[in-house]
Amino acid sequence: MKICFIGTGYVGLVSGVLFSDFGNKVICVDNNRKKIENLKKGIIPIFEPGLDELVVRNYKSKRLFFTTDINKAIKESDIVFIAVGTPTAKDGVSADLKSIYEVSKIISKNINKYKIIITKSTVPICTGDEVENIIKKNNSTSKFDVVSNPEFLREGEAIRDFRYPDRVVIGSNNLKKTRPVLEKLYEPIIKKGAKFIATTRRSSELIKYAANAFLATKISFINEIANLCEKVGSNVDDIALGIGSDARIGSRFLRAGPAYGGSCFPKDTKALIKIGDKFKTDMTIVKSVVKSNENRKFLLADRIIKILGNPKNKKVGFLGVTFKANTDDMRDTQCLKIFPKLLKEGVKISYYEPTGEKKELKNLLYKKNSDEILINNDLVVIHTEWDEFRSLNFNKVKFRKLKIFDMRNLYQANSFLNKNITYYSIGRSLNDKKA
Ligand code: UGA
Repeated sequence: MKICFIGTGYVGLVSGVLFSDFGNKVICVDNNRKKIENLKKGIIPIFEPGLDELVVRNYKSKRLFFTTDINKAIKESDIVFIAVGTPTAKDGVSADLKSIYEVSKIISKNINKYKIIITKSTVPICTGDEVENIIKKNNSTSKFDVVSNPEFLREGEAIRDFRYPDRVVIGSNNLKKTRPVLEKLYEPIIKKGAKFIATTRRSSELIKYAANAFLATKISFINEIANLCEKVGSNVDDIALGIGSDARIGSRFLRAGPAYGGSCFPKDTKALIKIGDKFKTDMTIVKSVVKSNENRKFLLADRIIKILGNPKNKKVGFLGVTFKANTDDMRDTQCLKIFPKLLKEGVKISYYEPTGEKKELKNLLYKKNSDEILINNDLVVIHTEWDEFRSLNFNKVKFRKLKIFDMRNLYQANSFLNKNITYYSIGRSLNDKKA
């Protein structure tokens, strides 16, 4: 099948590359010339383990193409995926759909045969209707269908998530025609056991928001339980195991930590509230989740200050600054809200991040490895759960007192009993009682 992906961000690039790996001819389009030139040379704009190899392999096999020529790419394709960004708009809550609508106009001018136009970007309910209207308005004679096909992959796990998803969701108002084509496209994935769910376009659009909001709710729930554990002397890891073993609840996304971050949950929860407002439905649960998650970052900053005692001129080193491991993405990362509060209290902050120095943190001191963070600080905060932080070299601090605040519960408190280290974690009682 001939496919084109408009937009080579996370979703567009990963999906495009993997569809080409399944044997399809895929053209990836972007209006960023530099990005396209780099991709042709095998230089990947994002940090995603394993993706570079797949790009090079499929590009060399002439199944994968990169171009800025959007008109030609659309004309040559049977299926056109729209995978451009839908960031939070200026109002701070809605999704900005400007790029989606601009691309729809361009598509309308290039429909030379029947095409399936698919929105893969996360888009509010009724966006598919609007895309269809735009195309019809500019081109009333062509035959096409607009389908919603949300993506559920996670950054850092994107390749595995794309190849082995729990389900593939498509939403169309003409399933008779579109379903067989998309079932064929997704055949390699369905054969491996993924459910294929076909529904209406609006339902499919809502599934994506409901899924992200539900996962965000699960995380916020366990984070609030962790707060309670700290007060009553319980262990949140045991609570997560105890409730997660109930198949009705499920064990995943119950890791307590430093609030959820990233480019999806914060944006999509806010957008879902806005969609609710538009349709006069008060999304009270999602509203509390957003509030709880925002508060959590300030609560953790306060806890750091409490652990330090007198924070002025104390040195705090952060291990990891991205919103989770295996990504270099700094969008809505938790520490961006924690740092200003600490700086205001006179704390001196340094950090080490496996994906390198960050432009967002240019006023903070960057260290080249975790040893330098362990040696030089009063308190070390494990902010991101990178594997390399699971076996830190604590011999570096043998003769010195150090406090560690493990925001990802990578360690057990009893491993520090005979060391000069005071260990604090999330939702576990030993030492936590004091801060
Ligand atoms: C999320 C969803 O998991 C994907 O299914 C979805 O496709 C994607 O958004 C999207 O809409 O594009 P992602 O943002 O890449 O994926 O990352 P997650 O692994 O979901 O983590 C999000 C945040 O939640 C991170 O800050 C992570 O540390 C936190 N988290 C996750 C927890 O604090 N506890 C958990 O148990 C799980």
